[in-house]
Amino acid sequence: MSTQSAPPTRRITINELKRMKERGEKIAMVTAYDATAARLVGAAGVDVVLVGDSLGMVVQGHDSTLPVTLDQMVYHSAMVRRGLARSGAAAHLVGDLPFGSYQASADEAVKAAMRMVSEGGVEAVKLEGGSDYAEVVRRVVRAGVPVMGHIGLTPQSVHKLGGYVVQGKDAERAQQLLQDARTLEAAGCYAIVLECIPTELARVISGQLKIPTIGIGAGPTCDGQVLVLTDLLGMDASFTPRFVKRFAELGGALTVAVGQYVAEVKARAFPADEHSFHSSAVRLVPVAEEPPEELPGVMGAPV
Ligand code: KIV
Repeated sequence: MSTQSAPPTRRITINELKRMKERGEKIAMVTAYDATAARLVGAAGVDVVLVGDSLGMVVQGHDSTLPVTLDQMVYHSAMVRRGLARSGAAAHLVGDLPFGSYQASADEAVKAAMRMVSEGGVEAVKLEGGSDYAEVVRRVVRAGVPVMGHIGLTPQSVHKLGGYVVQGKDAERAQQLLQDARTLEAAGCYAIVLECIPTELARVISGQLKIPTIGIGAGPTCDGQVLVLTDLLGMDASFTPRFVKRFAELGGALTVAVGQYVAEVKARAFPADEHSFHSSAVRLVPVAEEPPEELPGVMGAPV
């Protein structure tokens, strides 16, 4: 395995993402939680890598994102940063502020965002919430950290929303989400994730904002799309929400590969000679024949 970093590439900045929207070029964003995934998605040419707090479900096995801590987000972000550096990828790196790290006060949000940048190596943070978070966004941006908004189905509010359900289906809630998007843009967000809202609403929001919208379950009219890496790779055949397209079936392929390994170990077919090391010197070392240990009354003991 190589430990060398690839030569630095021109990074995709928040300004470049805005220019992509202006020229109608779609933005491709995907999650990564460790260095290997970051290296691979970076090499695939994604524009934005998100260290999402979805790692609470995907990596940690929780049934929500709520238990994820700021220390854990920093830890995973630093891994992803190293993986991207190794691939020489141009991708812009964003990390989620986890539940409890920014809701209580703008001061806490600023401190959390700064840790994500200085220790985690991200270029921007993402936080969930609408107009109520305008002041938090303003303060974090003023501290020098770009903020990506996230409205619609906001998983950190799963209990308030009553489950993982599509948002903005009635006129009143749709109007509120449009207002939230406008307020977040005015507060300084450089992009906004729109999660699980009707295509019609995503089209209006995307049309009214100058900053890019990144959709997940928000239809094709957003300026970009984001998916959780393990979903798009088909790592979990039992998780099939409507908004996910599986671009591969790696979960099944992985189980087949590991099953083959198990079978070959049992059958003594692995490791073969080509996987083994040899030394002529080792043959010169006499191997002493150890007499079997005598167990009284069992082996070799007088009866
Ligand atoms: O945590 C996450 O992965 C996210 C994306 C699904 C947008 O917030």
